[in-house]
Amino acid sequence: MEPAEIRDATPDDRAFIDSLSPRLAGVPHPPWHDGAAMRGFQDRFMAATFADAEDGARTLIACAADGRRLGFVHIRPGRDGVTDEPCGYVSLLALLPEAEGRGIAHRLMREAEAWARGRGYRLLSLDVFADNRHAVDFYHRRGFVTESLRLVKPL
Ligand SMILES: CC(C)(COP(=O)(O)OP(=O)(O)OC[C@H]1O[C@@H](n2cnc3c(N)ncnc32)[C@H](O)[C@@H]1OP(=O)(O)O)[C@@H](O)C(=O)NCCC(=O)NCCS
Repeated sequence: MEPAEIRDATPDDRAFIDSLSPRLAGVPHPPWHDGAAMRGFQDRFMAATFADAEDGARTLIACAADGRRLGFVHIRPGRDGVTDEPCGYVSLLALLPEAEGRGIAHRLMREAEAWARGRGYRLLSLDVFADNRHAVDFYHRRGFVTESLRLVKPL
């Protein structure tokens, strides 16, 4: 099943978006952070993402034929870390668990890429926890390549 519709989010979608924060927090498990820390991180990241009413940022919602929300992506203009040129950045991507494996995130990422190309960007980037293998593999299959690795040593 493909989503019946991908549309721009409205303020009414905020509760749905927020409801996926625990899901985003629940997938990565760096052993040096407990669940509460990951939930706190995700809630802060989400609040900061939406508090920052950056020009050009967009949130797209994927909906089923009956209008039920299935997932979302948040994209925003950014700066490449190497050249400082304007580029696109995927800040958040999440689906309901029951919506996985149906090409819905694929469609959302296709829209994200079209948005970035439409703005004339050469690059689209994102951050993902290294142990979120499902998401890492999903991005690799869509042409994303690892540029840098952040290493942590618990002391
Ligand atoms: C990461 C996440 C968004 C990926 O979702 P997903 O279900 O794997 O992605 P899709 O819905 O696009 O499904 C993809 C699979 O559906 C299948 N599929 C079925 N119909 C399809 C279609 N019409 N088009 C494309 N794929 C289709 C394919 O097998 C495809 O697999 P592929 O990646 O090998 O091409 C999802 O797992 C998620 O929400 N995870 C929790 C939050 C998270 O980790 N977010 C990322 C943080 S950076």
